[in-house]
Amino acid sequence: MTNPQTPHTITSLRNRPAWAALNEHFSELRKMHLRRLFAGDPQRAERFTLETLGLYFDYSKNRITADTLRLLVELAEQSGLREHIDAMFEGDKINVTEKRAVLHVALRAPKEEQIFADGADVVPEVHAVLDKMSAFAEQVRSGAWKGHTGKRIRNVINIGIGGSDLGPVMAYEALKYYSQRDLNFRFISNVDGTDFVEATRDLNAEETLFVVCSKTFTTLETMTNAHSAREWLLKALGDENAVARHFVAVSTNTAKVEAFGIDSANMFGFWDWVGGRYSVDSAIGLSTMIAIGPEQFHAMLSGFHAMDEHFRTAPFERNLPVLMGLLVVWYNAFFDAQTVAVLPYEQYLKRFPAYLQQLTMESNGKHVTLQGEPVDYQTGPVYWGEPGTNGQHSFYQLIHQGTKIIPCDFIAFAQPLNPVGNHHDLLVANVLAQAEALAFGRTAEEVTAAGTPEWLVPHRTFEGNRPSTTIVAARLTPEMLGKLVALYEHSVFTQGTIWQIDSFDQWGVELGKVLAEKIIPEFAAGDELPLNHDSSTNALIRQYRKLRRAK
Ligand code: F6P
Repeated sequence: MTNPQTPHTITSLRNRPAWAALNEHFSELRKMHLRRLFAGDPQRAERFTLETLGLYFDYSKNRITADTLRLLVELAEQSGLREHIDAMFEGDKINVTEKRAVLHVALRAPKEEQIFADGADVVPEVHAVLDKMSAFAEQVRSGAWKGHTGKRIRNVINIGIGGSDLGPVMAYEALKYYSQRDLNFRFISNVDGTDFVEATRDLNAEETLFVVCSKTFTTLETMTNAHSAREWLLKALGDENAVARHFVAVSTNTAKVEAFGIDSANMFGFWDWVGGRYSVDSAIGLSTMIAIGPEQFHAMLSGFHAMDEHFRTAPFERNLPVLMGLLVVWYNAFFDAQTVAVLPYEQYLKRFPAYLQQLTMESNGKHVTLQGEPVDYQTGPVYWGEPGTNGQHSFYQLIHQGTKIIPCDFIAFAQPLNPVGNHHDLLVANVLAQAEALAFGRTAEEVTAAGTPEWLVPHRTFEGNRPSTTIVAARLTPEMLGKLVALYEHSVFTQGTIWQIDSFDQWGVELGKVLAEKIIPEFAAGDELPLNHDSSTNALIRQYRKLRRAK
């Protein structure tokens, strides 16, 4: 049965005229080398570079022509992208399987804007929470917020997982340069006790504040860690009243927060129209705000908003997130590219690829359309990456000479935050060199001409024609981080719209959680309790019981 929530107005992907045209176009273009494309058009770099919002977005080293772009834009139009963007900004329930609006764009809307969900303007509530966060962040930063014994807070520990961890840790790391250095920030996410122990072992409970982040306040990992944190604190301070000074919560679930023992006065709310992986700019970013201060947090929000406005209003052929999303669709569908590598040449962005993994893969890892019909095309690719130049000495070999096509997003900044000698020139020279080498390679003739013995020539030849996009900005600032995150958010939206999938649900994470709940009591039960999993899982449970006892 198809989903009664969704209109059936969009033709299935393979039947959209632009899809058929792209298919035909691909058969002509697939053998075309970037060397030829560049040689044939001296204006190519200019033609396929977009400069806006302080970003220089060079997509000329992609395997496209003006025709490709025209057809991809037509595909976006025929996929209802314009209408879908408007529907998101108007608060329509575009998360159809959860019957929810998708309004992370409201989290960064300026005070004077109006954005409606269920007939109510949500912007005043957003700003009320931001004001409450700002007041609290200032108290912690200034030392006015005291722990139970009267000492000031020195350590802030974010407890959360998924969007309630990856956003905060990514943004904290990305903006560490701007952070208050007499505060120490840590992040606990994994239910593996090691994460908890290593994060707390050298800390004084009197000076430690836990920010428990969970949209639902029911997530197993987060609740387990939050209870361990409570025990750890009470063991050190010996008084239940201490919880009020050392725990705050960020959640949509007031009842559960109160049941945990956190006063709702110390709770920062958000709303069901904010998906976990789209929540870094909600109260989930509280630890980031404590680190960098309200002013810089607001600067980050203004960066997000600038990209939102660009996405909402720019024509598709000059729209950064649309172009980025269309390129993903192009390689995924026609070149059979399974992955996208995100390669920031900026050490502070070291957690950016991990953050993007949840954003992209939880959003677009779907196998049925909005109507519940199985897709007969590829959906979301695997996103992965590491900061440059480290990756060059590990996995770049495969990108250069392997048998797989891996489109790369290179990200670089012209001004170093920490200038040291000539490090930055070396860093940036490397990113440009990598993109150049991937695109143009080194022919057998060139290798031979350099005096390489004949038998070694095939090994030293670089085929080239490996696509990449290079994004350059002046400097990594909070505002620029907001722009970059929103760029990827809306690229994911563009892809999901073309594939006609629900980019905002995550049913695929449920089954494992349910099965784990069943297995937990089975560990405690004796061997006489019959197990009714498959034979492999049954044997693993018995083996675990045995090895655990052996200790
Ligand atoms: O299990 C997946 C997920 O629901 C993510 O979508 C979410 O970011 C994460 O778990 C954490 O959820 P919560 O914020 O409710 O603890």
